[in-house]
Amino acid sequence: MSGDKGHTDTVATPNASAADARDFSKSRALQPKANALIPGGAHTYAKGSDQYPEQAPGFIARGKGCHAWDLDGNEFIEYGMGLRAVTLGHAFESVVEAAHRQMQLGLNFNRPVKLEVDLAEAMLGVIDGAEMVKFAKNGSDVTTAAVKLARAYTGRDLVAICADQPFFSTDDWFIGSTETNAGIPRAIIEMTLKFPYNDLVQLRELFDRHPGQIACVLLEAEAITPPDRGYLQAVKELCQKEGAVLVFDEMITGFRWHLGGAQKFHGVVPDLSTFGKAMGNGFAIAALMGKREIMRLGGLEYDQPRVFLLSTTHGAETHALAASLETIRIYREQNVVEFLWKQGERLRAGVNQAIAHHGIAGQFEIVGRACNLVYRTKDQTGEPSQAFRTLFLQELIRGGILAPSFVVSFSHSDDDIDRTIDAVDRALSVYAQALHDGVQKYLVGRAVKPVNRKFN
Ligand SMILES: Cc1ncc(COP(=O)(O)O)c(C=O)c1O
Repeated sequence: MSGDKGHTDTVATPNASAADARDFSKSRALQPKANALIPGGAHTYAKGSDQYPEQAPGFIARGKGCHAWDLDGNEFIEYGMGLRAVTLGHAFESVVEAAHRQMQLGLNFNRPVKLEVDLAEAMLGVIDGAEMVKFAKNGSDVTTAAVKLARAYTGRDLVAICADQPFFSTDDWFIGSTETNAGIPRAIIEMTLKFPYNDLVQLRELFDRHPGQIACVLLEAEAITPPDRGYLQAVKELCQKEGAVLVFDEMITGFRWHLGGAQKFHGVVPDLSTFGKAMGNGFAIAALMGKREIMRLGGLEYDQPRVFLLSTTHGAETHALAASLETIRIYREQNVVEFLWKQGERLRAGVNQAIAHHGIAGQFEIVGRACNLVYRTKDQTGEPSQAFRTLFLQELIRGGILAPSFVVSFSHSDDDIDRTIDAVDRALSVYAQALHDGVQKYLVGRAVKPVNRKFN
């Protein structure tokens, strides 16, 4: 559906037909083995079977562009590919070729490779406010490194993080602050404080309650809610006044809001910032970036106690560096960010039309920046609903769309977007029926659950 003509007025079919629309038998047969061998059945909780309906592709076999094929050969248009890491597209040829060329020259040596300097130069060329950079393999490590550096620089222990943003790291300082904090010592948990987004007063109160003790303020410059006018600048000034380090986690915003990150988009330069995901188009690479004054604590020319800053065996695997360099080149030459925003707007417009057509604006919403769209599902009373999220996912999957979010990539063509809008329209037709008849009539099996929760 790319205009009104495509809206379906067909009556939603109850659950049995949805159940049998696609064959997932190979995926289904593999699931018990995965659960038996791997805690959570997957190496990332957000990919786990509890995050998807029962009628879902359990395992992916391959991908190309924004399309992915599961173990049973079902084809899907994907959104939020690789947890938002794959921004150019699956198996993007020039990136794969750059990585492959480098793999043939060797992956890892006793001394650094020139590529480390080349990529450092390229990253510092796009992130204006940063003066030094250190690479790692994932976002959690670089964000944790930012916290360690801030603690060493300020000589303080406490960390203030934004309470309304869902994820910063797999490490104790952050996971200890979530529902899933089993295994984290109380002493660590107590060192992380939280403040609400867009609320300067509460952040100020945090500083007042813990004078001279907060090492850093860490947040995404923007997640779903945009910053109020002047908020980010005021946070920066507060940090300066209080002697705390300002850290922006740009894992998602980086290379999406702007090639220069959300810091460029909003015109507020933090002391440190962390990148990952998009910078390697799916290859494992992440970066801690920031002011020389702070970053140099991890260097060799510093006369104070050394900070052991990001030193891992695989931190600078050559093929990931080559992939990232090529990814940055594509971004620079092909206006990738502009395209992401354009395709996101096309999708948003179509989804909003479908929502209006089915008269469910109070129960289903598409929100966020065009480059990073997500949806919210609510029940009849307007309360957030995991059951309705599951139903929507189920019906989208039935229509050939695998979309835990509506985050687009450089590979989402107009045709992909329009096919998605058609599928969303059909899914929302079922959604509207379910609001009327009860979700259980249409949902096959159990509902999904949040990743961060106390119990299974
Ligand atoms: C905002 C944010 N920060 C940090 C991370 C951690 O990155 P990684 O999974 O690469 O460790 C994530 C991962 O989803 C994230 O979304």
